[in-house]
Amino acid sequence: MFGPQAIGAGVVTRTPGCAGTGSESDRATVGSPTSGCKPDRTGTTLADIGTAELELNANSSDPGNNPAMQSVLGWLRVWLPPGCGWAAGPITDRAAGAFADEEQLIGKSVRKRRNEFRAGRDVARQALAQVGCAPTAILARPQRDPIWPQGFLGSITHSERFALAIAAPSRLMQAVGVDLEDDPKLDRRLVSIVCRADERHQAPKLAQLGIDHAKLCFVTKEAVFKAIFPQQRSALEFEQLRVSFDLPECSFSVSIRNADGDTWSHIAGIGRFLCNPTLLVAAFVIPQSSNPGWS
Ligand SMILES: CC(C)(COP(=O)(O)OP(=O)(O)OC[C@H]1O[C@@H](n2cnc3c(N)ncnc32)[C@H](O)[C@@H]1OP(=O)(O)O)[C@@H](O)C(=O)NCCC(=O)NCCS
Repeated sequence: MFGPQAIGAGVVTRTPGCAGTGSESDRATVGSPTSGCKPDRTGTTLADIGTAELELNANSSDPGNNPAMQSVLGWLRVWLPPGCGWAAGPITDRAAGAFADEEQLIGKSVRKRRNEFRAGRDVARQALAQVGCAPTAILARPQRDPIWPQGFLGSITHSERFALAIAAPSRLMQAVGVDLEDDPKLDRRLVSIVCRADERHQAPKLAQLGIDHAKLCFVTKEAVFKAIFPQQRSALEFEQLRVSFDLPECSFSVSIRNADGDTWSHIAGIGRFLCNPTLLVAAFVIPQSSNPGWS
């Protein structure tokens, strides 16, 4: 089922487990699953393929051998609602497995972009396979949002080294957005663009945990944007979203400014983030009301 370059993939099949915080032995990662969580999930996982015996290497571009990406895959496994599949893989040259129709989307792109695009499409197909979707080309609309196969939806993100995708049947999920960033600090010149003044009161508390509030705003807002754009189809500025973080749950809630410019509407969904010294990841998902993971 998996290509040779995809290491972590899985699917949630039943009730979600708990979203945990870093344990004593896992201080460097904020948002990682607690050891007490035993959700019932299936799929090919890092544990299944014996990664526990691998020597973890922070510089590895193999997600199964990279501790930061391992924590991301374990984190997804714990909190994603039923019906979601995911996959991650390294960004390498994957021209051999590329779909011809998709290649037209990157015809004139530089090699780096071609590689990240192909890796994203590859892991997206593997996430889709986890939820029962046969391999097919994933084209894109002019605004770059992927055109998912009929009956499915998902989200793709790339960092410098890794591509990550979440996919789900649309009968179980309304919206999915994910964003992965390598650099846990935001360029200081962008802080005032990304963060609203009424969000910044949370910065000191997050800083105590080694988390850059501005970067967390960035990654969570990008995830929310990816989740809602495919339906709303309107551009969004960072200041139009207001994010509030819940520690120690490592969850977030989000509101969107209404057209009147003064009032705000809560976006009902599940937002989670994970921070460790080398990456930051956030996802925002909106289950269908019939999904047992929606409470
Ligand atoms: C879409 C956007 C969020 C991508 O984020 P990024 O950090 O540059 O890149 P990532 O690797 O995380 O994600 C890129 C992937 O997101 C997906 N994507 C791109 N545009 C999208 C959109 N409009 N809706 C949903 N998904 C989109 C694509 O799959 C893309 O990869 P691909 O082109 O290889 O298929 C960003 O580039 C963008 O367009 N921003 C403008 C809107 C914005 O940021 N507003 C402020 C936030 S509220």
